[in-house]
Amino acid sequence: MEDGVKDYKKKIRKLIMYLYYSCRLRGVALLHRKWVFSQLVFLILALILLLYASGTYQYFIATSFEKHYIHWGPNVTLEPLFEQIKNNQVPSIMPINVYNHPYIYLHKDKCVMTGSATTISIVYVVKSSIENFQRRNVIRKTWGQETRFHHAVLQTVFLLGIRPGTPHLQGLVDAEVTEHADIVQGEFLDTYFNNTIKTMMGLHWTYHNCPDVKYFLFADDDYFISTKNVLHFLQDPINYPQLKSFPIRLTVELVPSSIFVN
Ligand SMILES: *[C@@H]1O[C@H](CO)[C@@H](O)[C@H](O)[C@H]1NC(C)=O
Ligand SMILES: *[C@@H]1O[C@H](CO)[C@@H](O)[C@H](O)[C@H]1NC(C)=O
Repeated sequence: MEDGVKDYKKKIRKLIMYLYYSCRLRGVALLHRKWVFSQLVFLILALILLLYASGTYQYFIATSFEKHYIHWGPNVTLEPLFEQIKNNQVPSIMPINVYNHPYIYLHKDKCVMTGSATTISIVYVVKSSIENFQRRNVIRKTWGQETRFHHAVLQTVFLLGIRPGTPHLQGLVDAEVTEHADIVQGEFLDTYFNNTIKTMMGLHWTYHNCPDVKYFLFADDDYFISTKNVLHFLQDPINYPQLKSFPIRLTVELVPSSIFVN
């Protein structure tokens, strides 16, 4: 009888042990699987974060700059077209950009040069933005000052667009025009992405209003230009000291007025 009870107890203990260990093992396996899974999730998240932080993910969503954003004009030689336009003919390929915004401030007489034929005449055409009153004032007092040099005729004009809904700003521009008469303002939104329109206005304005000017210098209102060096260079470009000793690249191009077209 005792043996029977012992056997029975043994069996029960065995069963408990079996259940206990099997449960534990399964638990461990489960735990292990959970651990591997969370590790994996963590790794994937870390990878995504790394791709994002390093900017690499942009590579996967990038579109082709050439295909989607750049629309080059026709691949043609421009000189013959310039000649046709200059001779009042209809060009064989029409221009793809034509400036056709009305002027608010034109200053037709700004560019009428009074110097003799041998004086250097140069117009600084400065792209500005309505709210940059201070920058324009600094330029008027420094490199854009029109009366600083006697051997050259220098004019400075500022190009602006409009900012609808801000009559206060426009009022200040109006006052600036009354005081300085050097603002060329066109009727197009004055925004960064309308820079092309502003540049076209500059070309259009100089072409139509400055027939006698020898040189134009296109600049932005955050440039500093050494007018002394510019005049020095224009007086004798070949022997300009720096050109003699080492080749330099001018960041601002000096373009003879004859190549401008409509
Ligand atoms: C433009 O045309 C020239 C000559 O016709 C050619 O050599 C050049 O590869 C062309 N460029 C493009 C971008 O099509
Ligand atoms: C540029 O100006 C034009 C004319 O005012 C306007 O219709 C257009 O929305 C402007 N573009 C940008 C990008 O501001």
